[in-house]
Amino acid sequence: MVKVTVCGAAGGIGQPLSLLLKLNPQVSELSLFDIVNAKGVAADLSHINTPAVVTGHQPANKEDKTAIVDALKGTDLVIIPAGVPRKPGMTRADLFNINASIIRDLVANIGRTAPNAAILIISNPVNATVPIAAEVLKKLGVFNPRKLFGVTTLDSVRAETFLGELINVNPSSLKGKISVIGGHSGDTIVPLVNVTPEIASKVAKISVADYEKFIHRVQFGGDEVVKAKNGAGSATLSMAYAGYRFAEGVLSSLAGQSSSSAIPDSSYIYLPEIPGGKEFSAKYLRGVDFFSVPVVLEKGEIKSFVNPFEKLKVSKQEEGFVQVALAGLESSIAQGTNFVAGSK
Ligand code: NAD
Ligand code: LMR
Repeated sequence: MVKVTVCGAAGGIGQPLSLLLKLNPQVSELSLFDIVNAKGVAADLSHINTPAVVTGHQPANKEDKTAIVDALKGTDLVIIPAGVPRKPGMTRADLFNINASIIRDLVANIGRTAPNAAILIISNPVNATVPIAAEVLKKLGVFNPRKLFGVTTLDSVRAETFLGELINVNPSSLKGKISVIGGHSGDTIVPLVNVTPEIASKVAKISVADYEKFIHRVQFGGDEVVKAKNGAGSATLSMAYAGYRFAEGVLSSLAGQSSSSAIPDSSYIYLPEIPGGKEFSAKYLRGVDFFSVPVVLEKGEIKSFVNPFEKLKVSKQEEGFVQVALAGLESSIAQGTNFVAGSK
């Protein structure tokens, strides 16, 4: 019996993500919250013949606080794709002004109404919205770093797809055989491709130019979609798939199952209070607190993380990418943290 709440459920990601969640037999209640059309999406999905009971929650006006409380009451897992997406010419950081307060307010409601829920944040800029969520929960005295996840799975999905094309292997077979760490924007995204000897030997045969193109494509894959959609938003379907893949891992762990992948999916997490996280950050990340690393889940929360530098054969070049990523992460984390400090 698991209640899952999607905040931003009527959006481009929210709708297909909710569809996938409705198909999961572990979900007993699927609670859909949005400021528009949540009831319509809920009515539509509720006709699908799976056990999850679907409820729609939409505020009647700006003052209505009951819809969000009803949506969150008793929930085990909250997934947040609420907020605005990019248009051509924008960076993810350009979304901060609007999305920062949306995340702050939604997470405050989660902290007050469902303080034990696991929270998956999709809304951009993830590098800053996750620190915002952490600060809000800290302020409320309910922060559990084991249950706050920045969703970076789309970067792994893209890396698997693009590398599969390049080395001519089925991309789905690459799940758990390569990894992506760092953050979720441009050069904060660091693909690791030498993790298993089998894949590393194929990667060694790629030309330098092809490898560089691959790295660029994973780091800037979001731009490809934004450009192709030409003003109609950013990745939604691939993101719904990726978000569901991560959510499914959390749901399976709630049911007592462990990940079948050699390397679990990464998530952008707050390291200092995860066992070994503080030392890892001090030794390899110049003390940066938030970083995406493969996470081992147990009962819906982070049990441990995989230290890429000790377990995933990080090359010298990849180490260089991490150094570049840290600079971008430091400023995004400070921006998120300062935003909450400056909020009432
Ligand atoms: P969208 O505009 O199609 O949908 C967003 C939804 O959020 C809308 O239905 C809107 O009504 C709703 N919303 C706005 N304010 C809200 C609030 N206060 N409470 C509840 N709902 C609210 O956008 P989208 O394409 O679904 O993208 C959503 C977000 O996800 C964007 O910020 C985008 O950049 C991000 N994104 C992240 C990743 C990732 O890898 N993490 C990938 C793709 C997109
Ligand atoms: C993505 O990677 O596709 C998302 O973060 C959306 C975007 O703005 O590119």
